[in-house]
Amino acid sequence: YQSRDGLLELDIIAKENPVNLAGRQAYLLTYNGQVPAPRLEAQPGDKVRLHFTNNLSQPTNIHYHGLHIPVTGNADNVFLHIKPGEKLTYEFQIPPNHPAGTFWYHPHLHGLVAEQLFGGLAGLFIVRGQLDEIPEVKAAKEEFLVLQDFAVDNNGRLINSAHMSLMMGREGDIITANGQVNPSLSLPEQRLLRLRILNASPSRFYRLSLENHSFYQIATDGGALNEPIEVNELLLIPGQRAEVLIKGDRQPGQYRLLNLPYDRGGMGMMGGGMMGRNNRDEPIVLVTISYEDQGQSLSIPTQLASISALPEPQTVRSFELNHGMNPAVGMAFLINGEAYNHDRLDTQVQLDTVEDWEITNTGMMDHPFHVHNNAFQVISRNGQPESLLAWRDTVLVPRGETVRIRIPFRDFTGKTVYHCHVLDHEDLGMMGNLMIN
Ligand code: C2O
Ligand code: CU
Ligand code: CU
Repeated sequence: YQSRDGLLELDIIAKENPVNLAGRQAYLLTYNGQVPAPRLEAQPGDKVRLHFTNNLSQPTNIHYHGLHIPVTGNADNVFLHIKPGEKLTYEFQIPPNHPAGTFWYHPHLHGLVAEQLFGGLAGLFIVRGQLDEIPEVKAAKEEFLVLQDFAVDNNGRLINSAHMSLMMGREGDIITANGQVNPSLSLPEQRLLRLRILNASPSRFYRLSLENHSFYQIATDGGALNEPIEVNELLLIPGQRAEVLIKGDRQPGQYRLLNLPYDRGGMGMMGGGMMGRNNRDEPIVLVTISYEDQGQSLSIPTQLASISALPEPQTVRSFELNHGMNPAVGMAFLINGEAYNHDRLDTQVQLDTVEDWEITNTGMMDHPFHVHNNAFQVISRNGQPESLLAWRDTVLVPRGETVRIRIPFRDFTGKTVYHCHVLDHEDLGMMGNLMIN
């Protein structure tokens, strides 16, 4: 779905729907009957008007992950509560200076986020712009990969979260790209493929690698990097996006995009269900990409953007991520010792200031830390300065480590949130309210 004459307008209906999943019928949660949800595309300056109907059996809402848009009213307001059977029109403008990039949308009603994402509710929201106009990027064949995992029973019904490993966050054994298990893609004649990848899984980490071949990362969550970086693997944590260019060899052949094992920690000693048992020992094939020898390949661009470093911060804050027992709810996930409370303002910042947030993970599991609405740059990891300049909205804070990020608060005031993007952790309390004044 693309915007026309400066307007992207469509109906979106959330409903349970039968979908073909790994060769069988499964009853998933969908936007407009599709898993992944319809891809939306707009340009900086466009107006967006989405007529939303909730035909789920639960309340829900929509969050526009990564977009720099208002957090109040009927825009990216995660405090809206849309009951079953209710409708709401989301309306906002993409700022004229918004970066081009790969963003996405998904439900964000606290307490139900993991469950609804795990049902399938997630789709891409593409903002077209400068990056798309770079000749080499424009000439490449563009494909999108939405990575999702599912767990359904023999009747194709979603398996209840109670059966899943809640501490680690739920993971399913059906791993899909664009709703399919190991789909095929082909490289075009010029043998340059631009893959735009989203991790829409509630908890699963994807450690991506192309068998026997390197590739070039050209964009992160917040859009283009300054220049392509050649890599052999790429860790995509829940919520994150990356764009890569894959260049075909002279000889015809096949590349397999693998998900390599990754250990994101665990509780140890507390019973099988709580251990990091979902880490697989075997690589999984996500996608197979085939190509033929077609002569000269297109080249990789040299310059993509000119990101500049942010000015020194006016304020520095610390956040500690951990979990603990809470008498009221049992196991809870905590930020600075507190589980999420809808009525408490945890962090108040001033518009048009820059802040450094130093986030320390003192727990036993890795946590992907996500801030709504304003993108940030990573400044250091464990005191070591970060050399790569990039805009992100989600960053991995590994167990036992400290990550410092720098956030400019621009354009929009109001209340929003930051949280762990292992969505069971978020639902179990690892979220804070952020007020931009
Ligand atoms: Cu992708 Cu607060 O979420
Ligand atoms: Cu978000
Ligand atoms: Cu977490």
